[in-house]
Amino acid sequence: MTSVSDVDAEILLAQPRGFCAGVDRAIEIVERALALFGAPIYVRHEIVHNAYVVSDLRGKGAIFIEDLDEVPAGSTLVFSAHGVPKAIRKDAEARGLKVFDATCPLVTKVHVEVAKMRAEGYEIIMIGHRGHPEVEGTMGQSGEGMYLVEDDNDIATLSVKDPERLAYVTQTTLSVDDAAVVIEALKARFPAIREPKKQDICYATQNRQDAVKFMAPQCDVVIVVGSPNSSNSNRLRELAEKLGVPAYMVDAADQLDPAWFVGVKRVGLTAGASAPEALAQSVMQRIREFGVKGVRKLDGIVENIAFPLPRGLAPSAT
Ligand code: F3S
Repeated sequence: MTSVSDVDAEILLAQPRGFCAGVDRAIEIVERALALFGAPIYVRHEIVHNAYVVSDLRGKGAIFIEDLDEVPAGSTLVFSAHGVPKAIRKDAEARGLKVFDATCPLVTKVHVEVAKMRAEGYEIIMIGHRGHPEVEGTMGQSGEGMYLVEDDNDIATLSVKDPERLAYVTQTTLSVDDAAVVIEALKARFPAIREPKKQDICYATQNRQDAVKFMAPQCDVVIVVGSPNSSNSNRLRELAEKLGVPAYMVDAADQLDPAWFVGVKRVGLTAGASAPEALAQSVMQRIREFGVKGVRKLDGIVENIAFPLPRGLAPSAT
């Protein structure tokens, strides 16, 4: 049996991994709001689902809340990257709060699709995970005519007004393969269902899953850096496991268990879209201390997408 101290044991680094453009932008919105208006800046829900990012921003003066009642009048409020229901937007407006919207533009794209199709008289099925804030935000773009399905079992019991005027949208961070199964089942039950022009699962989710599909078969174990409430990080871990490789998700290096690396020759390392590269690097360092010394960066897509900051926060605003 090989041991972790084998001279040729190595870490394979997935490409791409870690921050996506929407997360980058959301964090920058909070940081620029703090720089321009001073602490505290209120943020509805965790700005992105990463414990390290949230605690770092908390230290700089961000206050994370779930209920707008917790926000004093006249305060500045940031909506998280996951988006908000229309009712929350209206409530913040009615309270006269100064709002900056860190909703990822790719989530906003889905909100716009929903609004447009509802206006055209379509009912909409959303494929997503119940209770996730993005799902609440997208479902909350319309007061009625929305149905949530989590898997193909939900489809059998669904009763809609008119199967001829039905469309679907999805959460942006789903498993591409699992979503394809649900979409097939939807099309089988509702052949006339209208599809999004371009899939709603975002480029970052797709690219990180493709990178794991390439990496995992080369590995004995896969480590995903991400927080337990991060949808896309969970999907990366599940994907590696589905490919037959033991996979673990950790928030930080101290959660690594040395037993995971006994006898392995190749450790795959990736990070969810909300996990900072600094965390991935510290996890990598810790794995090297366990005896997996080599590091090899895998080939993969190099992303160069960036989203502009909202008006009032762009650098020219200073
Ligand atoms: Fe946006 Fe996709 Fe990232 S929806 S926040 S680019 S994971």
